[in-house]
Amino acid sequence: MAARKKKAAKKRKAKKAAPDGDLLRGRFAGGIHPALDRINRSFEVDQRMWPQDIAGSIAHATMLGAQGIVTKAAARRMVRGLQAVAAEFADGSFRATPADEDIHMAVERRLTELIGADGARLHTGRSRNDQVATDLRLYLASASESIVTWVRQVQRALLALAARDGELILPFYTHLQRAQPVVLGHVLLAYIEMLERDLAAAHYELDECPLGAGAGAGTSLPIDRRLTARLLGFKRPSPNSLEAVSSRADAARLVGGFAALAVTLSRVGGDLVLWSSREFGFVRLGDAVSTGSSIMPQKRNPDGAELLRAKATRVTGALQRLYEVQRGLPMGYFKDLQEDKTALFEAEDALEEMLEVAEAMLQNITFDGDRMRAAVDEPLGFMLATEAADFLVRKGVPFREAHEAVGALVREAEAQGVGLDGLALERFKAAHGKFDRSVFGVLTADGAVRARRALGGPSPANVRRQVSRWAKRLGVEA
Ligand code: ARG
Repeated sequence: MAARKKKAAKKRKAKKAAPDGDLLRGRFAGGIHPALDRINRSFEVDQRMWPQDIAGSIAHATMLGAQGIVTKAAARRMVRGLQAVAAEFADGSFRATPADEDIHMAVERRLTELIGADGARLHTGRSRNDQVATDLRLYLASASESIVTWVRQVQRALLALAARDGELILPFYTHLQRAQPVVLGHVLLAYIEMLERDLAAAHYELDECPLGAGAGAGTSLPIDRRLTARLLGFKRPSPNSLEAVSSRADAARLVGGFAALAVTLSRVGGDLVLWSSREFGFVRLGDAVSTGSSIMPQKRNPDGAELLRAKATRVTGALQRLYEVQRGLPMGYFKDLQEDKTALFEAEDALEEMLEVAEAMLQNITFDGDRMRAAVDEPLGFMLATEAADFLVRKGVPFREAHEAVGALVREAEAQGVGLDGLALERFKAAHGKFDRSVFGVLTADGAVRARRALGGPSPANVRRQVSRWAKRLGVEA
């Protein structure tokens, strides 16, 4: 009787171990269906969090030892074993097995192979739910840091151009219609400022540590969450175990910052595409950042700039997915949340690629100051009409009245096929009695930009000041 029972138990055990060798299937009679196994596993995706997973496990093992939940000796063996697993990941010798459903199972499985029985104590008082939430936040911190570093590089590339060619005069556009003259440095600094604003959302600081929240309802074991939080660089343990395992708000917030950056880079791309066209001709892309055509031998295409525009959709799309996987989830952990990593990594990878190519393109362009200037000076662009109106305002004329008078002058000049400065003084006087010959003095592009000294404006003096301010902030020579 007893022998038969033993035999049956042995049979069950044999069935359990094969073929997936899964540590989690103790309650099942058979192996997992291959289709479920494929959709369920995430190791391919989340293995990139190995440094965070191992750091979290080292902190946890250390705490278990400090609290006497495992012996100090066992904790030491776990920590050393985890360091050995880390070394395998670092040198590429780590070999995954079919049992490695995700990075957490992989690390634990390998640890137990390396150190034996003590490895089986690592998962005491924790769950993969608090583990993955902890890994994720640690990962966000490092992803944020490397993105910020890249953005600084792009800002430096923009600044170098502003310092080199910042005083070239070109039109700025509204509705893609020539509007008023500005200097190039003002445009480049605008992108530096935009990136800076985006960066505010792309900084991530560790605050609340989910580790110790268990599956979502904590643990009865005497863990020390303050210790693990401190060991991992968090400010404090998260105060609610359910929130700790259920929220992906931090990831969504950071990817929101990534999306903002990507959208700004896409706009840099938009300008480069436009400006490198022969119609504009403001920019020439260097050979290394130009692409050819398979049929038209003459082509010098701005593929990199176009992809800056299009790849931004990966980041904005990933942001949407991050919110969508959380939308409607009842409180608690769900496997839906596993898809957060796919979205986060896709956003991070796309953005990093974009930052890299943006820097490369900015370092390999030259500006055509003559083409820019010609666009400003083209008489029928009437880019100095606002200057003429401001001239009247300085003589006490209400702006609306000035606007109307200059509008009439533009109509007249257009009909004659000349610029405003091609009209006779009498025409000005007829349009408004406050005009005198000194109006011709304000009708030059150089004068117009020089005069735009109001705070934040494009006067060369303002732009020079901003260039040196940014040089200081970005730690470069102006
Ligand atoms: N791979 C999982 C994830 O990324 C880890 C947590 C799994 N927890 C669970 N109870 N199945 O979310």
